[in-house]
Amino acid sequence: MAHNTDRTAGLATMLTIALFAGLTACAAARTPAQSPAITVTRPADRTAQASAQEREAQEEARERGATGPTSVWDGVYTAEQAAKGRDIYRRVCAECHGTGEAPAIVGNSFIRRWFDDGLDVPFTKIRRTMPDDAPGTMPEESYLDVLSYMLESAGLPAGAEPLTAESSRLSAIKVVEQGGAVGAVPNFSLVQVMGCLMQSADGAWALTNSTNPLRTREPGNSTAAVLEEIGELPLGTQTFQLPTVQAQHLALKGHKVQAKGILMRNPAGDRLNLTTVQSLSDRCTP
Ligand code: HEC
Repeated sequence: MAHNTDRTAGLATMLTIALFAGLTACAAARTPAQSPAITVTRPADRTAQASAQEREAQEEARERGATGPTSVWDGVYTAEQAAKGRDIYRRVCAECHGTGEAPAIVGNSFIRRWFDDGLDVPFTKIRRTMPDDAPGTMPEESYLDVLSYMLESAGLPAGAEPLTAESSRLSAIKVVEQGGAVGAVPNFSLVQVMGCLMQSADGAWALTNSTNPLRTREPGNSTAAVLEEIGELPLGTQTFQLPTVQAQHLALKGHKVQAKGILMRNPAGDRLNLTTVQSLSDRCTP
């Protein structure tokens, strides 16, 4: 078995390390001049603006009664495809993916792994690069079958229409949490929000009048240009407790800020474990 360099797992590990390095760095007091010790080789920052636009586009598509499925919960493959896919998985993929040599690809990690992506992303990945020792050698149909099996193993429902390789159709099928179209960001996701940084009489910090959490892949500071765009957007109605406000954030009390951090859903009030806070304005008027 060739022990090929594990690119994606490598990147994932890097991200994890970078993120935890960032969080650890946050835990130790940092001066305002220090930027977070985070390097992430991900494509462009997904700005709140971009996410908001994406959201609007999806809502519009829904309102128009767009044809075709819009999420992995819409029954996007047939049971027959998944059954064929299971055979392929066992015959071709499991020797690496079922042994710990390569990341697990079946089971309930699917949603978290591909969240927010269209199905074109995992499809293209396996179609172009798998099996690792003979990329692209299976018929297209087999790749669709094995992707169907991955969906089935993640608990996603089968439907009447088969999954097809048409890329616009695949990309329209978004990987989201159940019932949650957009905005239902999974717990423990890295998110960004905008709100008022406030401190209550008992000293507890919170982000009030906050927008809904949007998933982000970039834990570090946003550029001035991005902040300028975000600053124009309206505030929201959410509140997040901020258990990890640091010394350098104190000066931003009362500011309208963009905050990024790990979302911790909690019946007693959702929390955000901050990675960054940046001022958008020194006043915050909802
Ligand atoms: C010879 C070993 C090997 C075989 C066989 C193999 N893979 Fe992989 N696969 C890997 C390795 C190593 C990685 C991680 C590096 C990468 O992403 O390219 C990977 C990554 C993946 C990923 C991305 C996982 C993630 O979370 O990023 C998917 C999806 C995948 N393989 C699907 C398949 C499918 C489907 C098959 C069977 C048709 C298959 N692989 C067969 C070795 C293999």
